Amino acid sequence: MNAAPSDALVLFGATGDLAHRKLFPALHALVRSGRLDVPVIGVSRSGWTLAQLRERVRDSLQVHGAGRDAAAERLLGLLHYIDGDYTEAQTHQRLRTALGAAKRPLHYLAVPPSLFPMVVEGIAGSGSGAGARVVLEKPFGRDLASARALNEALHRSFPESSVFRIDHYLGKEAVQNLLYFRFANAFLEPIWNRNYVRCIQITMAEQIGVEGRGRFYEEVGALRDVVQNHMLQVLALLAMEPPVDSGPEALRDEKVKVFRAIRPLAAGDVLRGQYEGYRDEHGVAADSQVETFVAIRLQIDSWRWAGVPILIRAGKRMATTATEVLVQLERAPQQVFDEHAAVANYIRFRLGPDRVAIAIGAATKRPGPLMAGDPVELFLCNAPSAQPGDYERLIGDALEGDPSLFAREDGVEAAWRVVDPVLDAGLGLHRYPQGSWGPQEADAIAACCGGWHRPELPRQ
Ligand code: BG6
Repeated sequence: MNAAPSDALVLFGATGDLAHRKLFPALHALVRSGRLDVPVIGVSRSGWTLAQLRERVRDSLQVHGAGRDAAAERLLGLLHYIDGDYTEAQTHQRLRTALGAAKRPLHYLAVPPSLFPMVVEGIAGSGSGAGARVVLEKPFGRDLASARALNEALHRSFPESSVFRIDHYLGKEAVQNLLYFRFANAFLEPIWNRNYVRCIQITMAEQIGVEGRGRFYEEVGALRDVVQNHMLQVLALLAMEPPVDSGPEALRDEKVKVFRAIRPLAAGDVLRGQYEGYRDEHGVAADSQVETFVAIRLQIDSWRWAGVPILIRAGKRMATTATEVLVQLERAPQQVFDEHAAVANYIRFRLGPDRVAIAIGAATKRPGPLMAGDPVELFLCNAPSAQPGDYERLIGDALEGDPSLFAREDGVEAAWRVVDPVLDAGLGLHRYPQGSWGPQEADAIAACCGGWHRPELPRQ
C-alpha cells in the first residue's frame, strides 16, 4: 500500500449537487479533525469564480453541514477554483499549473460516469497523474460489460492501486461494525453458518422518492442504484470468511470470494415494483419500466451458506426509512413451548439512518402459570448514528492512501456478474402505493422464510 498522504485535493464537479450535499460538509469535518490541510482545487465548467465557489461552500455548510466556525474559514482559505471543460487539454494544463509543487494529488471525480474515461485521460495527459490517486463515485458501469470497459479505460491511465471507488455504505460506522462484531467475538462463529442460520434478510427502505433525480434514476433503477453495490457489500461483510490479516487486500479478497460464490440471479428470483406516481416525476418517461423497488432471493454456493436463502429488498417511497439486516436462526428442533419461542431467535442489525443497533432476539417466559413466552431483544448496541460521517471517513482514508473501504476492480465486476442476467431482461413491473412495503407480489420471494421482516421505527 502506498500510504504517503495526498498533498492536494482536486474536486471535479465542484459546483454540483454531490459536492454541495455531501463533500463540502465532509471536507469541513476533515479540516476540523486535522485530517485535511492541503490545497482544495475545485474544477467545473459552470463559468464560476472562486468567490462563487466559496459562497457555495458556505451555503453547503449551512444547509447540510455543521454551519460556520473556524474550521469552515480554514476550508474556505484552502480553496482554489479552475473553470473549464473537463474534456479540454487546456483545463488540465491549468490544473497542472495550479497544483504547483504538489506531487501526490487526490483527484475526486464527482462528475457523470460517462465522463470518467475522458477526465482520467486528461489528468494523465497533463502530467497530473504521476503519484496521484483518483476517487470515483458510483455507478461503476451499468452492467458487467460496461464495468469491464470502464476498468480498462481507468487502467490505461492509473494502476488499480491508485483507483478508489466509493461505495458510501462502506464508510458507515454500522456497516463496519458488521465486520468488527463478527470477528472480534468468538461466540458468533459456531452458529454463523447453514447449520444454525435459517435465512438472512436485508431491507433498505426509503421514504423519499427520486427527489428531482428522475433523469438519473431512469438510467439505473433500484437494482443498479443500491443493490449491486450497497446491499451486496453489506451481504459480503455478513457472509465472508475471516480475512487472513488486517490489511486492505485480505479484506477485499474475502469479499470478492463471496460475490463469486453467489449464484447469478434468475428471473424467478426477482420481483420488481414501481411506486404509483413515479411516472409523473420530472425527467421520468410516461411509460417508464424502471423499478423503484426490487426484491431478490440469492443463494451463496459455499460450505458455509449452501441452501440458506438470502433475501434483499430495496425501495423508494416505502413506509419507513431504515436499513436493517435480520439473521433468522433455525427453530429449536422440538417445539416444547409456545409459538414465540419458535420465531424469536434472530440477530438484528439496524444500520441506520437514524439509529444503529445490534440486537439478539429471543423468547423468555412470561410470569404466570403458563409456560408461555414473550419475544425480547438483548441490545448489544443501540444508539444514534455514530460519527464520523461516511464521506468524511472515506475521503480521509483516500487522502491517506488506505483502500480498505473502497471497492476493488474484481469485486465490482463479480458483483455485476450476480445481477447481470436480469438487468435488461424485461421482467414484469408491479405497482405499489406510496408509503407501503412495496408490491404484495414480493411476498412470494420471501415465502421460503416465513415472510419479510419489517424494520419498524427504532426501539429506544
Ligand atoms: C445512493 C443512491 O447511493 O444511496 C440513492 O443513489 C439512495 O438513491 C442513497 O437514496 C441512500 O443512501 P443513505 O446513506 O441515505 O442510505
